[in-house]
Amino acid sequence: MRVIAGSAKGTRLAPVPKGVRPTSDRVRESLFNALGQFFGGGEVLDLYAGTGALGIEALSRGSELAVFVERDRAARAVIRENLRRTGFTERAEVLGGEVEAVLGRLVGRGERFDLIFADPPYRIATAEVGGILHRLRSLLAPGGRVAIESGEAPVEDAGGKKGVTRRYGGTFVTILGRSELIMIVAVCPGSFDPITTGHLDVIRRASKIFDHVVVAVGSNRRKQARLPAVERARLVEKVAADMDNVSVEVMEGLLVDFARERGAQAIVKGLRAVSDFESEFEQAQLNRTMFPELETVFIMASAEHSFLSSSAVREIASLGGEVSGLVPEGVLETVRQIYSGQDGKIQGS
Ligand code: PNS
Repeated sequence: MRVIAGSAKGTRLAPVPKGVRPTSDRVRESLFNALGQFFGGGEVLDLYAGTGALGIEALSRGSELAVFVERDRAARAVIRENLRRTGFTERAEVLGGEVEAVLGRLVGRGERFDLIFADPPYRIATAEVGGILHRLRSLLAPGGRVAIESGEAPVEDAGGKKGVTRRYGGTFVTILGRSELIMIVAVCPGSFDPITTGHLDVIRRASKIFDHVVVAVGSNRRKQARLPAVERARLVEKVAADMDNVSVEVMEGLLVDFARERGAQAIVKGLRAVSDFESEFEQAQLNRTMFPELETVFIMASAEHSFLSSSAVREIASLGGEVSGLVPEGVLETVRQIYSGQDGKIQGS
């Protein structure tokens, strides 16, 4: 593999490490041709960078700076070697770790990129790429472009993913502008101790309104949770698995910080009765003071769930009552086992 054009044209790149699928010269050439007028220097972010060939091609063609994200250590060593060969070491930063976590850090640093490549290994599910798309919008500079490579044709309109897709043999490349990457992301926070059918109904209804919903499993300081947040999140994940635009994460710290890092525009909460209003109103006002652009949106609980709460489920389960219908089917057995300890004592894990 060689650099195709620009100041480092013809430089031979280091051998491709095992397990890395490099973007072929043909696809790289076609991709830069397709970017055409949109490619005008600036800063570039190369996600799932592999050998770094795409970001290096961009540097060679005039990008001022490139950030490479690659979780494989051997591949990162190859990127560094390729930067040395092309003389671009000073104009690059190579980051390790999981793409989603690194994106969160870059958003936190206030970074903006003119060009973002996402070339995930084919074994990484399209759903993961969908999951990172909502963060890319906050990282993309005005007029910038995101180019996504995939081994399969993108699903029309899935999770707000539009843009122009071209096919090069078995590779599909989709180029999106910022306006095509409009993803309205909502965070749906809660303790979910445990998740109830009412929670799931709110999450499902939110997933139909917003492009992406991040369920944030947090800990309410006023209540002692029965299960660790990771376990509660696992239960939510299990019952929300059929919704492609819903992801579940554990939330530590402030909700507004969590939302900012995920590029969210809204907090979505369920509201059951007037009794919920006071505390929800207080939280919404406080969150708004800390992050005025973040709207809190309420979804009215369905009538059949208006009486339902996690605390009622805990009480019923701990006293040996029937919780069927109160919690989603997929977690019924687990909830029965875990929450059935008398006086709140957990049985099992
Ligand atoms: O299901 P819950 O118990 O009503 O959920 C409460 C939760 C976790 C959403 C709330 O306690 C929260 O937002 N915690 C994060 C910490 C925070 O941001 N506190 C300030 C909110 S005013």
